[in-house]
Amino acid sequence: DAIKNFISGLPKAELHLHIEGTFEPELMFGIAERNHIDLKYNSVDDLKSAYDFNNLQEFLDIYYSGTNVLIEEQDFYDLTWAYLQKIHSQNVLHTEIFFDPQTHTSRGVAFDKVISGIHRALGDGRSKLGISSFLILSFLRHLSEESAFQTLEEALPYKSWITAIGLDSSEKGHPPNKFERVFTKAQAEGFLTVAHAGEEGSPEYVWEALKLLQVSRIDHGNRSLEDSLLIDELVKRKMSLTVCPLSNLKLKVVRDMTQHPLAKMLDKGMMATVNSDDPAYFGGYVNENYEAVAVALKLTKGQIVQLAKNSFTASFLNEVEKKAMI
Ligand code: HPA
Ligand code: ZN
Repeated sequence: DAIKNFISGLPKAELHLHIEGTFEPELMFGIAERNHIDLKYNSVDDLKSAYDFNNLQEFLDIYYSGTNVLIEEQDFYDLTWAYLQKIHSQNVLHTEIFFDPQTHTSRGVAFDKVISGIHRALGDGRSKLGISSFLILSFLRHLSEESAFQTLEEALPYKSWITAIGLDSSEKGHPPNKFERVFTKAQAEGFLTVAHAGEEGSPEYVWEALKLLQVSRIDHGNRSLEDSLLIDELVKRKMSLTVCPLSNLKLKVVRDMTQHPLAKMLDKGMMATVNSDDPAYFGGYVNENYEAVAVALKLTKGQIVQLAKNSFTASFLNEVEKKAMI
């Protein structure tokens, strides 16, 4: 219908996307078979019926178990290529992709296989689909500071392939301050920084991400709205928030899409963007996320255009590149 066509016609960037969260069940079964790994589900439908989450942790448990079939460089290529083809059909011109190396290295898969497969697909995305992209290495916050330092060390030979360092996984009990030293090191090595904060964690986690991790963006940031001083600070800094509406609904960060904080963020002048987070698990890619909030929050066309523009403004593209895409 009209709003759907309007959204799909807009050029967009995606800034909050976990490549492991794009693993569609059909591809998962295919890769499991060629790697001779038994999934504990009998069929695609059986697997999909497990995608019913009450919180972040219930999702993470399934998300990490899905990655167990990813072994070879080609597996990471295929995963990334499938995502790029999908967003090409949605008029996404630029994407900034998280990957979670510890999820794979902890299973004995070499860092090189993971990043080489993803990087090769991103190169093909650029040459064959015209999609520009950056890669964000994300530390798993439920693991130790030492493990994050070790992962940063492993990443240094691939520095030119990685734009930023991020922080994801189980938020509560793992505040940004746990990673202050490793983020300082990452910045000294020339990486930009971002962090998931305020998805389930308190506004204090968002403050810490700003002050201790010197982030360029807050991933999610929903709970910032509970702290009016924090709202003022985010507006003053023009700090972008990478908001993920369908993720918030599926993980029960919001009760109902009509209760989603995105409209409030825009009203307050915050630099909010719309993203898909883990589209294979949450029921939609970028366009479906725009559609869900546009309908539930009765966004105007002007607001929808603003969100699409924000996605480029908040990206790590340079000013010339941004201008060419908006
Ligand atoms: N939050 C934290 N960790 C994650 C997420 C998320 O939404 N998706 C994948 N890892
Ligand atoms: Zn995320």
